[in-house]
Amino acid sequence: MWTLAELQIYTIVISGDPMEIFDLHENFGAVISGVKLKDINDTRVSELRPLLIEKGFLLFREQCLDDHDIVKIGQAFGNGALEPSARKVSHGRQIRDVVYLSNLRYSDGEYMGFPGNTTDFWHSDQEFRENPAILASIYCVLPSPEGGETSFASTDVQKLNVATGDLQKIKGKWSTRVPAKSHDNVPKVEVAHPAILTNPISGKDYVYVSENLVRYIDIEESESHRLKATFMEAILAGNNVYSHQWQPGDYALYDNGQVIHRREAFEGPRLLKASKIYADPSFFAVPDGYVVKELEDL
Ligand SMILES: [Fe+2]
Repeated sequence: MWTLAELQIYTIVISGDPMEIFDLHENFGAVISGVKLKDINDTRVSELRPLLIEKGFLLFREQCLDDHDIVKIGQAFGNGALEPSARKVSHGRQIRDVVYLSNLRYSDGEYMGFPGNTTDFWHSDQEFRENPAILASIYCVLPSPEGGETSFASTDVQKLNVATGDLQKIKGKWSTRVPAKSHDNVPKVEVAHPAILTNPISGKDYVYVSENLVRYIDIEESESHRLKATFMEAILAGNNVYSHQWQPGDYALYDNGQVIHRREAFEGPRLLKASKIYADPSFFAVPDGYVVKELEDL
């Protein structure tokens, strides 16, 4: 785990308002200051997009955003479309595509969002969809007083301590996922995606794997399990994980094709707002997949 105190400024970009860029972690991520996302425009996006492609995770502090801003920012960085939440309870009441992650309740007693507060599985957002929105954002309105970090880990093969032979075994293969029981707003299907994603701009390879991966297609079952465990162990090595402690106004934008993440357990009230952003495949590795089979139940 790393803290912001360990970070160093490594470059300054001047275009309009000065923007400073800090390393978040030695393997991935950057912290951007001097950018007011509420005023996002094409020039800013064209400056920041290469950084997102290079770093996989961008953090902006002290933002002041409403749901309309969250939609606008997501549309600007993606292809213009957002994907609805996998859980009906997460839909914002005003704008459905802004996903509420919260144990707070409206005055009528209904949860404002998905109230889960236990440690989550390591996952890529929307990985159980046939054509996932590969970019995602999280905006912090109210951090939990205890716990509730979101931990991220890079899937960059160049940063992982895995045997070349194991990578070769999944090169060109496909792996499958299924929705979780709480995903009541998605088709109940087993879907397949490429096992390795290659960013079209950088040419870098990333292992598309998570705890939710069911199997590699055309690889024998025990070997499939071994490969999944091997990649997950390498990705979750201590020096490859960054746990983000939320502060009000934090806006994180990340590429699910470059990092996996999970919610850490928490106590007390919390409100985060998320969006799932369809990406332009000319900039990001979009894991377009196919349905392997329909599922009777989850
Ligand atoms: Fe997530």
